[in-house]
Amino acid sequence: MRNHLSHLLKPIIEAICGELGVSFVPGMLDLQRPPDPNLGDFALNTAMRLAKPAKKSPLVVANLIAEKLAPLNESTRKTCKTDAPLSHLDGFAVPDIPTPVFKKIEVVAPGFVNLFVSECEIENQLVKTLSDPVAALCREGRPDTVVVDYSSVNIAKQMHVGHLRTTIIGDVIVRVLEARGDKVIRQNHLGDWGLPIAMVLMHAQPIMRELEASGKDLVKELPLERLEEIYREATRICAADSAAAAEAHRILVELQNGNAGLLADWRTITRLAMVEVYRIYNMLDVTLTPEHERGESFYRDMLADTVSAIDKTGKLVTSDGAGCVFLEQFRTKEGNPLPVIIQKADGGYNYATFDMAAIRFRIETLRANRLIYVTDARQALHFAQVFALADSIGWTRRDDAVSINCEKVSLEHVPFGSVLGEDNKPLKTRTGENVKLSELLQESIDRAFAVVNEKNGALPEDQKRAIAHDVGIGAIKYADLSQNRNNDYVFSFDRMLALNGNTAPYLQYAHARICSIFRKGGISEESINARPMLVHPAERALGLKLLQFPESVTMVAVELRPHILCNYLYELSAAFSSFYDGCPVLVATSEDEKQSRLALCRLTRDTLARGLDLLGIRTPREM
Ligand code: ARG
Repeated sequence: MRNHLSHLLKPIIEAICGELGVSFVPGMLDLQRPPDPNLGDFALNTAMRLAKPAKKSPLVVANLIAEKLAPLNESTRKTCKTDAPLSHLDGFAVPDIPTPVFKKIEVVAPGFVNLFVSECEIENQLVKTLSDPVAALCREGRPDTVVVDYSSVNIAKQMHVGHLRTTIIGDVIVRVLEARGDKVIRQNHLGDWGLPIAMVLMHAQPIMRELEASGKDLVKELPLERLEEIYREATRICAADSAAAAEAHRILVELQNGNAGLLADWRTITRLAMVEVYRIYNMLDVTLTPEHERGESFYRDMLADTVSAIDKTGKLVTSDGAGCVFLEQFRTKEGNPLPVIIQKADGGYNYATFDMAAIRFRIETLRANRLIYVTDARQALHFAQVFALADSIGWTRRDDAVSINCEKVSLEHVPFGSVLGEDNKPLKTRTGENVKLSELLQESIDRAFAVVNEKNGALPEDQKRAIAHDVGIGAIKYADLSQNRNNDYVFSFDRMLALNGNTAPYLQYAHARICSIFRKGGISEESINARPMLVHPAERALGLKLLQFPESVTMVAVELRPHILCNYLYELSAAFSSFYDGCPVLVATSEDEKQSRLALCRLTRDTLARGLDLLGIRTPREM
């Protein structure tokens, strides 16, 4: 709705600017939602922004705006027609608008223009959404090509709760961008090419040979859990024994030099580890597949060239034997220069080298104009540095900038806080170990089963199990997504599984309740496409709330903060509850009223389902 109004108002504001001799800038179209609905559905703050350059008081400008908007007002145009476009009123050009858009336009000191949208206009927009819900979410302008780097697990370490956030936040970002029509390229930047994997190889190779000799199945005998044990054991040994550490290093160098036997085993170990990772992605409904894997190893043959390309810019200096770039804006607490290390003193490459190679590949080969990285906040400095370096050496300038209407490739780090236990410390098991994600997910599903059993014990066992899965997984995801991602949050099964409050089960239940209205009435939702008639205040409020959906999705796409969509869906459920309390649906007073209210039910159900789907959360029809 806000977007739609901005489009209607823009030519009018531009014309006013012309009259006042002020040049229009988009920021002047400042359309806010006042916190108090008595102040209008929207407040236009344009007068405040125009007053100074126009050398007039805000109130005078506000009155002028109100006057020019009058042709859109109901009092000027009595009828509510859905056809008959009207292009010119009083000689003043307005876009083709079939009906009055506002029912009241109010000027308030010191210079606000409060806008009350007409029911007729809300209804028109709802009809549009009903007929083409996909178009409602489409972005304006040219779609971006976006690389989203998320999940990016490390091979040979179990996924623990720390990987939960990048995986599910990243997956919402890709779903949202895709829904808006962007071209999204998922990248799982696996940690698969460093010392940890060499240490695992060193200890796993003899075990692999033995298993092969006795004809055993590696997938069964070497699950991720076992690989992780091997990794821990190897780390312990290498720390205690410098000869072992030297041997691990030798293996790493050999692997990196392309030793065929090592490479084959490395490949096997990677696949073994990913079996468990995909089992978890699958449980979580995460959209990553093997085709999105492009781990550090992928860049191994580009690293030398990456370093020499940076060297050619003249910025690479040797400091303590290492290849470094010093950028003015990065300094230690003491004010000393802080380098970005691109090549280690022993000639090896590091995390930053891989990322520089990846940035180049993503821009030059994948042709992305937006790169998004989802990792915890502790990596903020790393990304700030590699981004600044890429900018400073010109890698983010696109030679085709004009044709893609993009000055520079945008590099965005999406940081997030930690998951804490009830003791406010990073979530650990009682014995102080990292909590395994798979166990956490299973516990949530088990607990959800108990809730479903209590609510709806008579359902068939299979169905109860399926619902428990959707609710248990949904609860964990939503508890994470509904927090502003920069904050830490406390993991609490009781809170996330509650049927009241801003939780997944609450929203899923709201959705299931609407499905039950249709079920009880023996009505198929698809048959409902009446024009909603907004008579009761709760109907009007619900209609307006429904039209806010695209706006919340846009905000997530821009700010990369899923909690904005969570809050919206929660508000939508509240608006639906008020509607349902005040407006009987199946026993409405007339058939027209019933059809209208069913249309509102359908729109709400569709929006909840679509919104939760963007969050990667399923919506069972019964709970
Ligand atoms: N594997 C890394 C980790 O677990 C995350 C990688 C993030 N992506 C990147 N391009 N650096 O910490």
